[in-house]
Parts: sequence; C-alpha cells; structure tokens
Amino acid sequence: MSIPALRWLDPPAGPAIELLDQTRLPAREEIVTCADVPALIEAIRRLAVRGAPLLGIAGAYGVALAALRGDDVRAAAADLAAARPTAVNLSWGVSRALAAWAAAGGNCAGGAGGGGPAALAEAADIAARDAAASAAMAGHGLALVPPGARILTHCNTGALVSGGEGTAFAIILAAHRAGRLAQLWVDETRPLLQGARLTAYEARRAGLPHAVLADGAAASLMAAGAVDLVLTGADRIAADGSVANKVGTYSLAVLARHHGVPFVVAAPVSTVDLDAPDGAAIPVEQRPATEVITLGGQPIAPDGTDAYNPAFDVTPPSLVTAIVTERGVIQPVTAGNVRVLGGATLLAAPPDAVSDVER
Ligand code: MRU
Repeated sequence: MSIPALRWLDPPAGPAIELLDQTRLPAREEIVTCADVPALIEAIRRLAVRGAPLLGIAGAYGVALAALRGDDVRAAAADLAAARPTAVNLSWGVSRALAAWAAAGGNCAGGAGGGGPAALAEAADIAARDAAASAAMAGHGLALVPPGARILTHCNTGALVSGGEGTAFAIILAAHRAGRLAQLWVDETRPLLQGARLTAYEARRAGLPHAVLADGAAASLMAAGAVDLVLTGADRIAADGSVANKVGTYSLAVLARHHGVPFVVAAPVSTVDLDAPDGAAIPVEQRPATEVITLGGQPIAPDGTDAYNPAFDVTPPSLVTAIVTERGVIQPVTAGNVRVLGGATLLAAPPDAVSDVER
C-alpha cells in the first residue's frame, strides 16, 4: 500500500497520528491527522480507522500521544478503550501501552517523563508484531486453501486493518502468490460497504481475480457450486471459539454449512478474549440508523424510518471449520484448543511449538 493505514509523526510535525481516511476510499486517498486523543476517538468512531488489529495499534499510539502531550493518560486510555466495544484488540492495545507507560514511571498528571517514550515504543512493538503475525497467519492458512480455490470473503481484512498484510486477506494474497487463487468473491458488506469499497480496492491493487457481490447473492453463489472456501477475519473470539465479526458473517457460516463449504476465520491471538466465556459475553456494537437508511448520503428509506443496525454478529463455534492464528491452526474449534493457542501463557512460545493441537 503506497499510503500506510496509520503512521506516527514525531516532532516537529507531531506528536500526532496520521490516518488514511477509510471513509473516503476508494474515491479519494485522504490523510487525516490526529493531534490529540479526542480527534483519534472521533476517527475511530466514524471508521476513518477501523478493523480489529489496526484498532489495537491505534489505541496504543493514542496512549503514547496522550502521554507525550502531557494529558491525563489514564482518562485518555479509558476513553480510547471505550470508543468501540466489540474489537477486543482496541482495549488490549490501550492496556498494553498504558502498562508500559506506568512501568516507566508515568503518572496521572502526564508530563514529559519516561512514560511517553515507553508507551510509544510499546505501540511500535505492537505494530511490528502484528506485521509478523500477518505473515505467520498467511503461512499457516495457506495449507487450508485448495488449488484453484474460489474464496468468498466478507468485510475488509487486508493491509488497511493491520501492521502487515492483514488476516484473512494475507492468506488470500499468499494463495494468489502460490497460484492457488482462481477467484476472490467479495461480499459488498452492507451497510458501510467495507467489502465493495475497501477489499475490492485492495484486491485491485494486488492484481487478484475478483468480483463484488451483493451480500444476499452469497446463497445462490454457493448453491451454484462456485465457492470452495469462506474466509473471514474476526473482531473478538470468545473462549469457546465463538467468533464476532462484521454483521453478515453468521449468515455466511450457516450457508457454508448447508452447502458443505469450509468456513475459516483468521485472527491474531490479540483478538482472542479468554475472559469472554462464550458468544453471549461479547458486546455487539449498535450503530446509528442513518447508516442503514441512507447510502452515499442519499436516503434509501423514508426519512425517520427506524433501523436495526448491529455492526457485528456472532458465529457459534460449531459452524467454524478452523481458526488460523499466528501460532497455528485451531481445528477443531473447541474451548480446549482455543485455550491452548490463545492463552497468555504461550505468549513467548514460537508458533511451530503449538501448531498441531488436538487435530
Ligand atoms: O466495523 P469494522 O469495519 O471495524 O469491522 C471490521 C471487521 O469486521 C473485520 O472483518 C474484522 O475486524 C477483521 S479485521 C482483520
């Protein structure tokens, strides 16, 4: 990607965070600069910066920004963590940077002590590890892609959401490079069209054979035998293997089961939340009705029409064929296997050490 999704700016231009405004894509590649945490929170809420892994990186840089500005770091961290509720990576990234700040002697009053540089170093480390996780997921996930694969994906999971090449999209890119990708089917992903606007943008730039479809067309596409694999990302994975992802993912999982198509999820372990025992414990963000009743600023329903607009849905583990992480593949998706690969005790373990649990 020529313009990175997120870039830290040191003084004199900063401290600040530069974002590629994802609400403007694909029409315009515009940069938005966040010079303080309220501006970053506004960018997160309106999805200028979005996607689970990138939200973790953005949250960590936000803590560093607050510290280096001399703001109230704990208050800023609390506000950042609450900006969007479903992607656990956001609160994870914020708490990692906050812990680094505190360990370096930061205090509630802020100031120019060692806390700010320590939080900044932690944010950079999270970004670098996420890039490494992308590459590792691509390697592990490629084994699940058959030759000549026609892959259906939902929402957006590429470099726009990651320090590297993404999650599910990193696997798709690896399949393309290995000559295994015959076709990428891109769900448009109503209501905010992350598939049509962002995944098609990334697929086009990467030269992938691809086509966009209305979300409702996935059923007939599968019935026609034109899908070999459904591959998506995740915003939070509960301890039992329930997967929260962009609304519409659950429908795909049901369809995939009905048509005998594997349904595979890719996510870094920073997306695994062992404190959420099951899908019911995952908070699902509800967004404004305007996102559903307007399209490109134009009304598509009578003014004032109410709308049901959950940003995510939860797919039960029984419908998930496998979860690809940087540490290996969770298959079958059981609570025991999620704990082995997603557990904090394995943070220091090399990926290959845990790649073959309970097959
Ligand atoms: O509301 P968004 O656009 O932030 O939702 C993003 C998704 O649901 C992605 O599919 C998910 O975060 C995986 S990102 C690798």
